[in-house]
Amino acid sequence: MQFSTKAIHVGQEPDPSTGSVIPPIHMTSTYAQEAPDIHRGYDYTRANNPNFVNLELTLAALEQAKYATVFSSGLGALTALVSTLASGDKVLATNDLYGGTYRLFVKVFRKFGIEIEVVDTQDLDAVEAALKSKPKMILIESPSNPLLRISDLEAIGKLARKYGVRSLVDNTFASAYLQNPIALGIDVVLHSTTKYIGGHSDIIGGVVISDDQELKKEMDFARKALGLNPSPFDCWLASRGVKTLALRMEKHCENAKKLAAFLANHKSVKKVYYPGLADHPLHAVAKKQMRHFGGMISVQFDMELEKALKLASSLKLFTLAESLGGVESLVGYPSAMTHASIPEKDRSKIGNLEGIIRFSVGIEDGNDLVEDVKMALE
Ligand SMILES: Cc1ncc(COP(=O)(O)O)c(C=O)c1O
Repeated sequence: MQFSTKAIHVGQEPDPSTGSVIPPIHMTSTYAQEAPDIHRGYDYTRANNPNFVNLELTLAALEQAKYATVFSSGLGALTALVSTLASGDKVLATNDLYGGTYRLFVKVFRKFGIEIEVVDTQDLDAVEAALKSKPKMILIESPSNPLLRISDLEAIGKLARKYGVRSLVDNTFASAYLQNPIALGIDVVLHSTTKYIGGHSDIIGGVVISDDQELKKEMDFARKALGLNPSPFDCWLASRGVKTLALRMEKHCENAKKLAAFLANHKSVKKVYYPGLADHPLHAVAKKQMRHFGGMISVQFDMELEKALKLASSLKLFTLAESLGGVESLVGYPSAMTHASIPEKDRSKIGNLEGIIRFSVGIEDGNDLVEDVKMALE
């Protein structure tokens, strides 16, 4: 079965009790039991709900994997994964990372003795050297947020296995349509379903996906024990949104390619960060492991910061807002928005994003989007 067919049919069976083509939303906190602990597989929605299961079946299939567990948010999914670690454990991570992910490690997990060490995952020698220090997990963002760095997932998956380290890819920027890390030899995939999977900027959600049955049990346990469950309604919306993921991603990528080409040739632009451009240092790796190059672009304009920020807020079709991956175009200044939570002292290692403007290119008409940026530049 091909991607679009899976997105529409797996986990989307008509409701057996009524024939309703669209599975209903199970807005219930609890379930009737025949006798103590005798029930039909569900006892309390913090632990499980039919809308969680439907979405999990779809997302596991789309990532070419066996198991998925959905959570309240992308950070909820990460919290569940880190809850499998113990004090003294270390996590290696890409040196360009969503600010909230970094904050979670340094402001919360550090108190419990879990450390994060960042490494340039574009550099395989640096990755191998860091793996020798016996981390428990390596967390890769590829493309990374917001500098669109690319890591060779197949090579890192192999290295991680060699050193007995669990590899984890935050696949939020690519989505399951553009890249399937597990098929490339990565152990675990995480998504913020808030973004491309939901696709309409109307939910917050997350998921952990793998082929590891033991990890599936641990993730289900973490959701129940830590209270990291999503709402059934949000899962239903994600199940609806994901049906059009392939179509949306095609358009996101087509529009982003057009905008990146326009920006790369503009005199007021110093640098465009986009894996689809031939001058991206790992363009060839992106080409090898991704179907297309994604809908995210970051730009360093050749102008004073104040002017660049004015430009970002004067766009008509790109709304100045946090987040990404919705049908509507958004623009942001990561240094003051999505990545503002990175502590000042850590900014030389990670998150020195002065002057970088990030575009989440939507699925409006591509020429209209280019025209909007052109007008703002003028
Ligand atoms: C790459 C990436 N991972 C994880 C997250 C966190 O997801 P959520 O906001 O659903 O908790 C984000 C949020 O922007 C993100 O960009």
